[in-house]
Amino acid sequence: MSNGRSFYITTPIYYPSDLPHIGHGYTTVAVDTLARWHRQAGDDTWMLTGTDEHGQKMLRAAAANGVTPQEWVDKLVEESWFPLLRTLDVANDDFIRTTQPRHEERVQQFVQALYDRGYIYAGEYEALYCVGCEEFKPESEIQDGTGAFEGLKVCAIHSKPLELLQEKNYFFRLSEFEDRLLELYRDEPDFVRPDSARNEVVSFVKSGLKDLSISRSAFDWGIRVPWDETHVIYVWVDALLNYATAIGYGTDPAQFDRRWPAYHVVGKDILRFHAVIWPAMLMAAGLDVPRGVFAHGWLLVGGEKMSKSKLTGIAPTEITDVFGSDAYRFYFLSAIPFGHDGSFSWEDLSARYQAELANGFGNLASRTIAMIERYFAGVVPAAGAYADGDLAVQRTVADAAAAADAAMERFRPDEAISAIWTIVDALNGYITDNEPWALAKDDAQRERLGTVLSTCAEGLRALAVLLSPVMPASTQKLWEALGQSERLVDQPLRDAGRWGQLAPGTTVNGLAPLFPRIEQ
Ligand code: ME8
Ligand code: MG
Repeated sequence: MSNGRSFYITTPIYYPSDLPHIGHGYTTVAVDTLARWHRQAGDDTWMLTGTDEHGQKMLRAAAANGVTPQEWVDKLVEESWFPLLRTLDVANDDFIRTTQPRHEERVQQFVQALYDRGYIYAGEYEALYCVGCEEFKPESEIQDGTGAFEGLKVCAIHSKPLELLQEKNYFFRLSEFEDRLLELYRDEPDFVRPDSARNEVVSFVKSGLKDLSISRSAFDWGIRVPWDETHVIYVWVDALLNYATAIGYGTDPAQFDRRWPAYHVVGKDILRFHAVIWPAMLMAAGLDVPRGVFAHGWLLVGGEKMSKSKLTGIAPTEITDVFGSDAYRFYFLSAIPFGHDGSFSWEDLSARYQAELANGFGNLASRTIAMIERYFAGVVPAAGAYADGDLAVQRTVADAAAAADAAMERFRPDEAISAIWTIVDALNGYITDNEPWALAKDDAQRERLGTVLSTCAEGLRALAVLLSPVMPASTQKLWEALGQSERLVDQPLRDAGRWGQLAPGTTVNGLAPLFPRIEQ
């Protein structure tokens, strides 16, 4: 059913130095939802996620736990990062770990190619490094410490002291790419989204780029620089390359050509790496730059970026154990405009679960199925002549489906969901207006009752298809309750708004509440 249009989308590869929190889960479910949408629309889709396993942060986490870095990452990946994908119902096509040979060998090949092309040189370096960011910090992100860190320079993001590093390093000639990068941002205004992120990147590059230190010699937990055994490749250069190595850069040209270039979805904390350094590396290697980089906002707790290093991390299972994976996915993707920061609170989550999922969508599904069972012995009735109100529902469904697809194309799952929700609201209003329970008392209204319930059932059919990328579990239940035997994920998404696909005569099946009441 593929239309031949390639859609390759990635999450960042996360540091498995610690446990996943809801911020990692947020990016991952957003990317999964976009990937599911495109896959179900027939695009040649590939979703990649993975873990970033080298560098000093990892080395220190392992040392603090008395094991080797490889043992540490193996344990964390196996026990926490793979399970995160099951917890959140993620249908990734691949998972890359930067300690895999398929990655390490190709990273060396790539770096060697840049060296051979003259883009890498040896030099001396002295600068302030943040191990939390794994980055030499620019002036703008260096602050004076306070309290316990009085008199020290600290990282603006992590609020932890910076370390003065003085080494012989290999440098990448990033400064040579200023003009080409600015041209890229100008010619492809969607290369960096949203606009706030684009503006930040443009002004950063305009303020001047320095060459990038791309090797380290003070420790050895990394991939060796191929021409100098005493250095390992900077963890960010290693990490960014995952997007290419995972799809066969250097080994499988057919796969690479089929997938590349990618769309990258990242948190705004790592925007510059993706929108400045990464395209420059690709330009230097003579490869295509990414299709685009979308930077979403931060989940805030108490007004600050939620993070493990500040001990404000909430585990995704704390939410899914109570509300389920669909509610997790729905909540974060609908409540926060994609690209903006959002504050997480249990109160907001509970309120939206109750209002939108339980009372809105769930109740619409339950009562429609229950009325078909009760008034038509469980068989979807045929519609009679359509009245204005019926036709209005049909238009809402068609418009919502088109608007949702356009929003997903713009990387705005929040806007897609709100478009789809116009169907939920329209149908609930339609039931209130038409009072099927009153129609059922009057034999003369039998045909009208059939029209009303068939309209509701057909609307639910569209909702199941349109919401399946967002809430795969509950829509599957609804799909089965609607008596459908074909796979829901095979229902063509871009055809979902076409009226009249649920055949009269279909037998529905009892539906347990999709979003049960949560005991507080
Ligand atoms: O930066 N709100 O890994 P990382 C929203 N290994 N998203 C958040 C978040 C929050 N409070 N906290 C984390 C790295 N994230 C590198 C990436 S890619 C080549 C290498 C999400 O484990 C968000 O996607 O620190 C952010 O960009 C990412 O986790 C950082 O994950
Ligand atoms: Mg981080």
